[in-house]
This record gives sequence, structure tokens and C-alpha cells, in this order.
Amino acid sequence: MLTNFRLNMLNREAASPRYKSSEIIKNMDIKRGDIIADIGTGGGYFTFKFSIEVGMDGKVYALDTNQKSLDFVNNKSQQEVFDNIKTVKVSENGIYLPEKVDTIFLRNVFHHLPQQDEYFKNMGKFLKNDGKIVVIDYKNKGFCFTGIFGHYTSEQNVMDIMERAGFFVGEKLDFLPEQSFIIFKK
Ligand SMILES: C[S@@+](CC[C@H](N)C(=O)[O-])C[C@H]1O[C@@H](n2cnc3c(N)ncnc32)[C@H](O)[C@@H]1O
Repeated sequence: MLTNFRLNMLNREAASPRYKSSEIIKNMDIKRGDIIADIGTGGGYFTFKFSIEVGMDGKVYALDTNQKSLDFVNNKSQQEVFDNIKTVKVSENGIYLPEKVDTIFLRNVFHHLPQQDEYFKNMGKFLKNDGKIVVIDYKNKGFCFTGIFGHYTSEQNVMDIMERAGFFVGEKLDFLPEQSFIIFKK
């Protein structure tokens, strides 16, 4: 269950040097004016980082299935005056966006998706032709929390699913100790 406590915890985890958020953002090559969709925004740690990167000419869509997460992000947006963030409640089976975006971002969300093949099949229509999908998920590290509870997707599995959905690997980087980082293009 997502409580404010848990959402704050997700943000603290994302901010920890061990998860290298600055390097993640650097490797995404975000431009001022970009439109980014953060699927499974949680506590919005990356949504707020993206908001600053894209500036007032850009936009960030924060998507989640959980209304508590979206309320949390909306409250922070209002309190800290982030005017370029829009929250969108989505079903667990697929996304909806009101326009095409430059980047679709999923961090630690892929393994939560119930029907991964179906989920990505129609995603291309929300992505600009030169856009990218950035997928970060835990690798299988065997005997540890993420391994035991199945909170991971192997790199190969992510690539197979995305390829079947019509995307190809643009870049695969190895700077995260616990997670894979793959950029897909259409
Ligand atoms: C582990 S948290 C990751 C949060 C954030 N991406 C981060 O890196 O800190 C997973 C988030 O994905 C959301 N989620 C789970 N299934 C989803 C789905 N099918 N579509 C969109 N969001 C989903 C959860 O509600 C939760 O907020």
C-alpha cells in the first residue's frame, strides 16, 4: 500500500548516491522544452528532477495507477510551484497521454506490469518518431530482497518484450550496480 511514509521513502531511496540519479539524468540527454512521461511516478522523485531539466517550455506527465501517488505529487507541485507537471491516473494495463512525448521513463516499474507484452504494444503511438523509452529495472541478483520477492526483470527479458512490441535497443549502459539501464527507440 502506498502511504505518504512509503512515498517519502521511495524518494529517499531514489536520491541515495547508490542509485546514481544524476548519472541517470545525464545519460537521458534531456533538452529544454522536452515532454517527458514518468510512468509509475511513485513519490515523484524523477518527475520533479525532469521538471527542472525541461524548464517552463517543457512538460512532465506523471503517471500512476495509484491516486495516493498522484495526490502526493500534486501537493508538492502546488506547494513548491512546479507549473509544468501534469498527473495522469492510468489503468494497470496501459497508458494514455494527451499528446506525443519525447521520452517515456520507467524506473523500477517494469516488473510490476501484469501483461508486459500487451502493455508496450500500443505505446509507440504516444512517442514522437525520434523519441525514446528509458527502462530501468532491477537485475536478478539472486539471494537478496529484489531476487527473493521477484522485484526484477532480467535485461534479456526487458529487451525481448520491447523488441516484440516494436522497439529496438538504442543504448544499453552499465553504470548502475543493481539495475539495468536501456534506451529503446521506435
Ligand atoms: C517501486 S515504485 C517506483 C517509483 C518511481 N518510479 C521511482 O523510481 O522512485 C513503483 C510505482 O509504479 C506504480 N505502478 C505499479 N504498477 C503500475 C502500472 N501498471 N502502471 C503505472 N504505474 C504503476 C506504483 O503505484 C508505484 O508508484
